[in-house]
Amino acid sequence: MKILITGSAGFIGFHLTKSLISSKNTIIALDNLNNYYSVKLKKDRLKQIGFNKKISKNKLLKSSISQNLYFIKCDLKNDITYKILKKFKFNIIIHLAAQAGVQYSIKNPYSYVDNNIIATIKLFDFAKTVQCKKIIYASTSSVYGSNKNTPFNESDKTASPISTYASSKLMCENLSNVYNHLYNIKFVGLRFFTVYGPWGRPDMAIYKFIDQYFKNKTITVYEKGNMIRDFTYIDDIVNGINSTLLNFDKIQKHEKNPIINLGCNNPILLSKITNFLTKDLKLKLKIKYKKKLKGDVDSTLADISLASKYLNFHPKTKYQQGIKNLYEWYIKYYKIKI
Ligand SMILES: NC(=O)c1ccc[n+]([C@@H]2O[C@H](COP(=O)([O-])OP(=O)(O)OC[C@H]3O[C@@H](n4cnc5c(N)ncnc54)[C@H](O)[C@@H]3O)[C@@H](O)[C@H]2O)c1
Repeated sequence: MKILITGSAGFIGFHLTKSLISSKNTIIALDNLNNYYSVKLKKDRLKQIGFNKKISKNKLLKSSISQNLYFIKCDLKNDITYKILKKFKFNIIIHLAAQAGVQYSIKNPYSYVDNNIIATIKLFDFAKTVQCKKIIYASTSSVYGSNKNTPFNESDKTASPISTYASSKLMCENLSNVYNHLYNIKFVGLRFFTVYGPWGRPDMAIYKFIDQYFKNKTITVYEKGNMIRDFTYIDDIVNGINSTLLNFDKIQKHEKNPIINLGCNNPILLSKITNFLTKDLKLKLKIKYKKKLKGDVDSTLADISLASKYLNFHPKTKYQQGIKNLYEWYIKYYKIKI
């Protein structure tokens, strides 16, 4: 198969691309390497999968560790991207590129319109033009807004998002419906729940706590740590995406324009995470407590019965192990002597 992966220098895209290196598929990986967070971290991820040389815009690079892996630095908003991509006959697109982050979306809403809505329409339109009939795309638990029915089920109402990020991701879900209806493109939308792990995103809680500890900064914990998140380890998410790839046709036989939760189904209080960092990993965190931020939801918890039914999805990584892996990666990556 020829697979296009968007957002492959990002946290989830990198891990997914890495997991597919030894498969027989040809992978075209793409990212615009935006500076929402460290571009160096994104480039270092790419080095791990064989892109060590200078990365120039709109130029196809071949991986030094796999014959079947290519990378292009390009932007899904730009028409030139699609001129480059046109020559590949993709069997499937895995669309992970996005402007992520709930809080950033409150100050910078336009980036979400540009990178999540416009870029996604352009990509879906490209798929229509080149007759690529299969797309897996990333959505988020944030679409559930302040849903009080737990665990969150895919059939719960999502009409009341509370951040521009969530709203832009809901639009992607809506667009999949449109492109399915009008052009018979088949989609699977995956709603990820707070993903964490090595090579993670520096703007996310657990990474931020570890990072700020080593920078001797005070960490901010909201709502006295009483917020609940269904933290999901990166390897479990990657298994879920790969299983979606394998079972794509089977899912289509049973569901029209399916959307599937990928979460751990094991909700954790944020205070449990800070306790684990303090007591088990012996990081003496300096903590400052603040009121909940607007846009953040109180709790998330995934109902994963659909994922278990179609994808045999059974998250394995306990938070203690997952956090330890992230911590150990952090120490190694930043060459911290302890
Ligand atoms: N990490 C999580 O906890 C989480 C939770 C729910 C949903 N998601 C979704 O999963 C996907 C991947 O998230 P992530 O955590 O890896 O984020 P990330 O920011 O690490 O990765 C996204 C990548 O997309 C790239 N990108 C952004 N706009 C682009 C554009 N216009 N053209 C080309 N590339 C572009 C960025 O440079 C980045 O490397 C996103 O769609 C995100 O919304 C993530």
